[in-house]
Amino acid sequence: MKTEIINSKDDEELAVKKAADVIKNGGLVVFPTETVYGLGANAMDSSSSSKIYEAKGRPSDNPLIVHISNLEMLENIVTEIDERAKKIIDGLWPGPLTIIFDKKYIVPLTTTGGLNTVAVRFPSHSLAQKIIDKSAVPLAAPSANISGKPSITDEKSLIEELDGKVDLIILGGDSPIGLESTVIDLTEKKAKILRPGFIEANQIAEVIGEEIFFDSNLKNPSDPPKSPGMKYKHYSPNCEIFLVTGDKKQQRNKIFKSLEQDKKEKIKSCILSTYSFESTEDFANINLGKTNEEIAKNLFKTFRNLDGDGFKKAYLPYIYEGKLAASIMDRAKKAAEYKFL
Ligand code: TXA
Ligand code: MG
Repeated sequence: MKTEIINSKDDEELAVKKAADVIKNGGLVVFPTETVYGLGANAMDSSSSSKIYEAKGRPSDNPLIVHISNLEMLENIVTEIDERAKKIIDGLWPGPLTIIFDKKYIVPLTTTGGLNTVAVRFPSHSLAQKIIDKSAVPLAAPSANISGKPSITDEKSLIEELDGKVDLIILGGDSPIGLESTVIDLTEKKAKILRPGFIEANQIAEVIGEEIFFDSNLKNPSDPPKSPGMKYKHYSPNCEIFLVTGDKKQQRNKIFKSLEQDKKEKIKSCILSTYSFESTEDFANINLGKTNEEIAKNLFKTFRNLDGDGFKKAYLPYIYEGKLAASIMDRAKKAAEYKFL
């Protein structure tokens, strides 16, 4: 397939128009959002959304998130918006938060991976909103990566991975947040987070005034997850990632011992540092950022670059504290396939 690539910075209006034309013709458009890039198609048309699964190599039971740009679109696709949902919508939408509702019949089962529920997100990214508006339909859009690979947050990776697989790619710079949206299930009595993200449980608890629960799979990976996507191998670069536990001194000791060993065995390895490491010419040190916000933003791009740079092993000190720590470590644990040092 021939893919057209447009930079939204050159001509935003043209980018929006072309995107809407492709969507209306049943095609696939990659577009920026505030979390990660999305791979979008008309959510209300089964044959359009089935193309997403094909392009990504995504299992057909892994449901797509439906993106909207106004609340009328929401009313058209869900059976009920209860008080709890209204409060969350008032307080936290538009933004990096996806809500699971019971779906109306008109939402194709292809879009929802066969489920009678639908995941809905109202992105805050203005270009994403304009594309949905102009398309005049909700857009089904998973993260724009080949299934199992890290989500894409930068232009270079988009082109490398998706050129030839979609009709149109709209470039919009680095994704501002860098982690996918929080997913919360409101279809049961207890509001439950199925995937942690930029919006944290305490923010949701504050707006609805009730306790928020977590899918047990998030604490115990051998429990089956409620979100089908969480069961698949995820976010993995080819480079092996190790999460290094303990206090800073223990983390340093473990990392330098491993790096020494790798050097002896001629294995190309590096530190993915999240705080300062004494500079050394002997070992590669890739800094992920000074704050958790920066680390979140750089995480997926860095994972992707590890393969391009030929690293075979990377050591990431576990982050225990601060905003986003749990969401960053959720993604990192999956990338590391739960390998700890
Ligand atoms: O930030 C984001 O959410 C990005 C951008 C593009 O909006 N999208 C994204 O989509 O991360 P995706 O498909 O990579 O992840 C969607 C997650 C998957 O784990 C999927 O299984 C889950 O949401 N999901 C979707 N619909 C669901 C449903 N009805 N019930 C439970 N989980 C659902
Ligand atoms: Mg994804």
